[in-house]
Amino acid sequence: MKHLRSLLDLTNVEFQTIISWSRSLKAKLKAGQRPDLLKNRTCALIFEKASLRTRVSFEAGMAQLGGTAIYLTSDAGWRERESIADFVRVLAEYCDFVVCRAISQSTVDELALHDVIPVINGLTDQSHPCQAIGDVLTMLEDSNGNLQGKTITFVGDGNNVVKSLIKASHLAGMRFRLACPQQYQIADSFFALINDRYGQIDFAQSENLRDMVAEADYIYTDVWTSMGQEAENESRKTAFAHFQVNSKLLSIAPKHCKVLHCLPARRGLEITDDVLDSERSIVFQQAGNRLHAQKGLLVWLAVANGYITQNDAGLG
Ligand code: CP
Ligand code: NVA
Repeated sequence: MKHLRSLLDLTNVEFQTIISWSRSLKAKLKAGQRPDLLKNRTCALIFEKASLRTRVSFEAGMAQLGGTAIYLTSDAGWRERESIADFVRVLAEYCDFVVCRAISQSTVDELALHDVIPVINGLTDQSHPCQAIGDVLTMLEDSNGNLQGKTITFVGDGNNVVKSLIKASHLAGMRFRLACPQQYQIADSFFALINDRYGQIDFAQSENLRDMVAEADYIYTDVWTSMGQEAENESRKTAFAHFQVNSKLLSIAPKHCKVLHCLPARRGLEITDDVLDSERSIVFQQAGNRLHAQKGLLVWLAVANGYITQNDAGLG
């Protein structure tokens, strides 16, 4: 059974197919077409953390594809009334997909271990693959399909969003730079598996902002304190104080450089209003693309798991 526990579940070709189908579904929607490729299919959503974009884009995406999403609240008894093993085996009797936003990556991995229903990672402490798929879609649109050799610089914490973005941007042929205080940088051990699976990544990380943004085609940032890290808020504010995406930083980046943020943003901390609301920001296009990326992913999983044929999907 095919899952999306992390991007490592996808081959390069599979990743490109999801991006391509997301683009096709976006074009169809713009032309007023909502093909019911997942008619009568159901997707359960189980979220241990707050969400706007991930939840709504999956719910809207399922509806547009002719299916239904079921958002489970805590009264479903996740962990408390029964084990994850029993929970997922029961869900699989009713539903065709499950999206899980979990405190820990191990929860998503455990759901998938039973191999009874395709499991989609809707963010964990370690990764956010759905976000990264939408981000590549956004940069591809912005660059007219030409991301090969382009540089993305992430300014901020070496967190879950970065870890997925490093993989996705590598699959898109990009170079990755991380401007981050040393203690929050990414451990060398993270790269072994990726290099092994996808080939050598072009990656550098440094505290030196100027070096990291000098060649940036895209600058990306995210909150300094992720969900679950609230106790570290004050120490993180101090550590990241110089890692703000503001107009001064943009003045040392190439003039054509665009700005991304996965949202939600803490305006005035990791990014200033004047940048987020500027013409160089593609942040709301990026948020919108979560819908199209989610639809591309769902249809791809439907094909990969034999619910429909590639021919039925008709997306190329
Ligand atoms: N970017 C993102 O995943 O947003 P939500 O937390 O609102 O889902
Ligand atoms: N890094 C953030 C991303 C939110 C979409 C968090 O985990 O809270």
